[in-house]
This record gives sequence, structure tokens and C-alpha cells, in this order.
Amino acid sequence: MSKNKTQYVCQNCGYTATKWLGRCSGCESWNSLVEERVGGDDLQSARDGARDLALDMAVHAVDLDGEEGAATPQKRLTTTITELDRVLGGGLVPDSFVLLGGDPGIGKSTLLLQMARGLRARHSDLKILYVSGEESVDQIRGRAHRLGVRSEGHIFLAAETQLERVFATVKELRPQLLLMDSLQTFSSGFLESAPGSVSQVREVATRLMALAKSAGISVWLVGHVTKEGSIAGPKVVEHMVDTVLYFESEGGQAYRLLRAVKNRFGSSRELGVFEMDGEGLREVPNPSSLFLSERHEPVPGTAITAALEGSRPLLVEVQALVAHTVLAVPRRTSVGMDSARISLIAAILEKHMRMSLAEQDLFFNVAGGLRLSEPACDLAAAAAIWSSFEERALPAGWVFIGELGLTGEVRRVSQVEVRLEEAKKLGFKTVVVPRSAMEKIGSAGKGLRLVPISQVREIPGLLKA
Ligand code: TYD
Ligand code: MG
Repeated sequence: MSKNKTQYVCQNCGYTATKWLGRCSGCESWNSLVEERVGGDDLQSARDGARDLALDMAVHAVDLDGEEGAATPQKRLTTTITELDRVLGGGLVPDSFVLLGGDPGIGKSTLLLQMARGLRARHSDLKILYVSGEESVDQIRGRAHRLGVRSEGHIFLAAETQLERVFATVKELRPQLLLMDSLQTFSSGFLESAPGSVSQVREVATRLMALAKSAGISVWLVGHVTKEGSIAGPKVVEHMVDTVLYFESEGGQAYRLLRAVKNRFGSSRELGVFEMDGEGLREVPNPSSLFLSERHEPVPGTAITAALEGSRPLLVEVQALVAHTVLAVPRRTSVGMDSARISLIAAILEKHMRMSLAEQDLFFNVAGGLRLSEPACDLAAAAAIWSSFEERALPAGWVFIGELGLTGEVRRVSQVEVRLEEAKKLGFKTVVVPRSAMEKIGSAGKGLRLVPISQVREIPGLLKA
């Protein structure tokens, strides 16, 4: 007999309470708790049912030095999409559980289909099941064909939203890769709450995780998120999955950034760059060009830096606009870099370069809509702000690399050599680098003019050199 339980779940953060609260104790948002009924015994039996899929339930301890697992390089499957392979940490891990999040319409379903195409091209006996809760089989088929995906008896499509029925199909087909599009549309028949509610999202994810780990199937789960993160969905399952990828684009640009924000099988700072066109997603192997403007003559208020996204160096233009304010409290607005960091850099400039910014608005922007979180970009930000303030353009072909300390010192940054190689590749001639990094540079500096700097106040002097 089933015993039903009622609980109140915050749709914002997933906090669960036994009675209704006007304000969530977890995330302090108002009116976000919704009553959800949870099946007692039924739920347990559903979970037990999922375990039928396990091929071997025995838990046995193994020797640490023993045979290596699925995440070893030999066992990874290449998706043949270089940008995707890199973000995954070197290809698809056979029993991994992956969450692919992003705004609706960003290209998640397209990426999954192209991944299926790529995997098929290299691994001829791989069986893939694509389950969509959003589109009909005809719609998916039409799109897949347009993208050049051919099944040849190995890619199966299903339009289904009921989790138990998906499991039945999995049991029958035994695919090695299961693509679930999207998390918010699936529901378990053993819970009464609506698809997309926190309890359903958790239940669906928990059972898919069990499937991935016990049956050795790689499961990909698509999750829609909004900018405000107002749909709790993907957030509450992030801790369950091995890898969280976010697919995003800034300001209506055609290119798409694929980022790993969590990855048990690789670096979590990797970035993949794609462009969406009539034929689906295209890889952008050399993305620095996207983040540099096309203009050739230098203008005041811009500077170039060499940032690192994961293992990949990117040359990026940062822009500052300093203008007299009409407000009592001047504005500090930053897009693409942390506002607090920009305020801090402005304060360093006031103190150590005697720039008086108290009556100036300061607007800061990173070209191309990229987000920079690395302190190595500080020096370029400072140079751009100074350049706008003085209305003096920085010379063309210069790159600025360095972290700023509160005393105005320019500190060493990680992997200078990689950044210099990229600058050289893109035709830059002069790089301003922290003096303390000079001895480490070696041959990476060949062909470049390196200008050492140890204090931010040296910037104007360097330009005369
Ligand atoms: P889609 O993969 O459906 O996004 P998501 O699954 O994240 O919601 O992609 C939808 C957008 O991509 C849609 O606006 C149309 C566009 N698109 C192209 O521009 N070219 C293409 O070849 C395809 C398949 C889609
Ligand atoms: Mg979709």
C-alpha cells in the first residue's frame, strides 16, 4: 500500500520544508514554496525497479593500483568534434552522467545531434538513443537529416516524457549513449508533482544517475536555464552529475561558448567555441579573432590582453570609457569583468597614478561578449582606463599581461609562455609582462619585444620607449 507524503519545495533553490513558509529559509525568496506530494512505498519500488537494469549489483572493493576505469584516455570516445572533446577533457567517458545546460534556443539539441553524428563516424557499433520530450519523432528526424546525421541502424529516436517508459526502452535497446532532451519535460509516474518541479527533476536525475553508473551507459541530460536562473531544475542536479556543461552566447552573437563548469574527468575551465549557421554548429578553431576588433588604428580606451580559458589562450580587447559625471556618486559599470575588480583597479590607479576618478563615470567592457575572470587581465584593464582618462591611445600591436596588487605592483601570472605564443601567432609585436616573469619566459619570447613592468605607474613611461 502506498503512503503519500506532502512536502513543500522551494522552486528556486530546492529547499524542502514540512510546512508551508512564505519565505524560503534556504534562499530567502518569497512565495517560492510549492506543495508537492511524494509517493512513499511506490517511490521506493520505482527506485528498486530501476536497479533491475544493473548488470552486476555486487559492490566489491578493488586495489588502488589495479586496472584503470572508464575515464582513462584509451577508453574515451572521441566525438570527432575537437571543441567538444576538449571541453569534455579528451572525449566522452563511457559511463559518464553529463548535464548540458543553456538558454532555450541556444543549440543544445543541435549539439547533441551533431555529437551523435560525430560518434557514429568513428565508432561504428555504438548504439545511441535520443529521447525528446519536446519534439515529435518527425521533427527530430527532419532536423537530424538536415544536419547530416545518419543512423544506419544505430541511432534510435523516441518522443516520450514518462521516465518509466524511457527505462523500458533502454532495457530493450541497450544503447551505450542515452540523450535526454530535456530534463524539465520528463516525469516519473510515481510522483504526483508536475514535470519540471523540483521533486520531479531530482527524481529523474537520481534514477538516470543510477542507470549511468550501474549499466555503464553514458547519459546526457539537457536542462534549460534562464539568465536569472529562475528555473531551479538544472541547479539542483549539478551535484549529482559528473560533468556540467553550459552552452551560452552573449548579446545575440552568432557564436556559442561551451564551458565546463564542473568536470570529474578533466579541467573545469575549458572553453569550446562554435558558430551557429544554416548548417548547424560549426567549430571555431581560432577564436581570438572574435574577441579582437577589426579596426587597425589605435583609439584611446582600448587595450589587448592574453587571457587563458582552461588550457586555451585567447587574445581579447578590453575597453574603458572615462567621462565626466553629472551625478553625485559616479557610475562604475562593467560588462565582462567583475565590477568589484574594476572598482579596485580604479582605486589603485587613483592612488598610484594620481588619476582623479572621483568625478568621472567609468564604463568598462570586454569586446565580443566574453567574460574574463582572470587577474592576469588587470594590467590591460588598468591600461585601458588610463588611456581613456588621458585620451591617449596605446600603440597598436601591444599586449598587456599582469595582475595588479593593491600597492600598485604588477605581479606574475600563470603560464606566460602560452600567452606569448598566442600573441606571436596573431601577429602582435610587443608584450608588456611582469618583470618578475621575465626569467621564466625563455624561447617563448623570441620574435617578440618584451617590455618588463613592475609598477602600474610605469605605464606612461613605457609608451615612450
Ligand atoms: P536548438 O538546438 O533547438 O536549441 P535548444 O535545444 O538549446 O533549445 O537550436 C535552436 C536554434 O538554432 C534555432 O533558433 C534555429 C537555430 N538553428 C540554426 O540556425 N541552424 C541550424 O542548422 C539548426 C539546426 C538550428
Ligand atoms: Mg532543444
